[in-house]
Amino acid sequence: MSTSALHVAGELLVPGDKSISHRSLICSALAEGTSRVRSILRSADVHSTAGVLRALGVDIPALGDDITITGVGLRGLRDATSDLDCGNSGTSTRLLAGVVAGSGVTGRFIGDASLSRRPMRRIARPLEAMGARVELPEHGGLPMTIRGGKLHDVEWANETGSAQVKSCIMLAALCAGVEAKVVESPRSRDHTERMLASQGAEVWVNEQSVLLHPVSSLTPLDVTVPGDPSSAAFFAALAALSPRGEILLRRVCVNETRIGFLAALREMGGEIELVGRERIAGEWIADVQVRGGATLRGISVVREAIPTLIDELPLVACLAAYAEGETRVTGAEELRVKESDRIAVVVGNLRTLGADAEELPDGFVVRGTSPVLRGRVVTHGDHRMAMAFGILGALPGNEIEIDDPDCVAVSYPSFWNDLAAVTGT
Ligand code: S3P
Repeated sequence: MSTSALHVAGELLVPGDKSISHRSLICSALAEGTSRVRSILRSADVHSTAGVLRALGVDIPALGDDITITGVGLRGLRDATSDLDCGNSGTSTRLLAGVVAGSGVTGRFIGDASLSRRPMRRIARPLEAMGARVELPEHGGLPMTIRGGKLHDVEWANETGSAQVKSCIMLAALCAGVEAKVVESPRSRDHTERMLASQGAEVWVNEQSVLLHPVSSLTPLDVTVPGDPSSAAFFAALAALSPRGEILLRRVCVNETRIGFLAALREMGGEIELVGRERIAGEWIADVQVRGGATLRGISVVREAIPTLIDELPLVACLAAYAEGETRVTGAEELRVKESDRIAVVVGNLRTLGADAEELPDGFVVRGTSPVLRGRVVTHGDHRMAMAFGILGALPGNEIEIDDPDCVAVSYPSFWNDLAAVTGT
């Protein structure tokens, strides 16, 4: 297929980073005093975190571009006044489970069908080891009731490489006033460590572990949430696929634990430049310039790199259909327990549409044939699946229908508008 008629141009300010948005609400709630948060992501997942914090007694305002939050301090939460509804959001559930456990309060977490199936034993086990009581159904998902108590110090090996598990343990220890050491390799995203350190918490980080010492209080935050690299990735891919494409993605978070997709795209032959790199409130931010025109080639992505591009792997699979040769991703079995089984769903959809793709137990292989893709994508309500195939749908000649385009509201409500703006449609 020819992508020559695809025209991608301009600048885009993608919405705020989802991980940092969740954490800015939680860390503001736990601070002593009034925090200010600008450019927070206003998406369904972040609304879930706001709703849970309100049910635990924190006065979170309606989410806007510039909000202030008066914290309740490290021991100021109360028992939940209702079920804690996390919707589709694993990050809300796992981080707030740590907060509830460490605060010595009780809450029952619920969510939608997808979230209710996702594994919670990975947080139940460390929280129980710290002294909390966790009730889970047989299948290990939701509903999950947490009864906090007097917790004790913990050292935990983060075997799944999950930043949500690491953050859960750190937040439980922080609220309970105990010490936590989390051992992990490779390192998962480190926004919790950075934000807590900026609030005066004692956090020690090295290549293998994170150590948190107890503190009596956190200072308030003053943050501007940078653009989400996982959202920017869709437009970086689109520009790379466009022969004369050129896009400037402004003020994107380029924290090194999050830019594996840019590294992968560069290795495929994409032309990428980071401009005006600066550090703001503990996070690295830059404008990301992507130029199209190069012939992309297949790559191999292995376990060590997976945490740095975990959410972008469905997009890697889609892009790989237009890269010469084979793209092979391994060590990514975590994809099977995301919002959908992202290995089965991305490979199944690619094959239905006419691409050459194959499942592996812990990843996938895609052979780049530059196919003309036609058919209907079944997203299973997975926002990243809708957006990854949305990018392929923008390529001239492809005719792709997405079964549930509105599911992008989970992380990027304005995705379809932004796609229309940069492609001039
Ligand atoms: C997130 C961590 C990742 C990622 C998710 C957001 C976070 O999950 O997939 O979208 O904000 O901590 P895991 O840490 O479970 O891999």
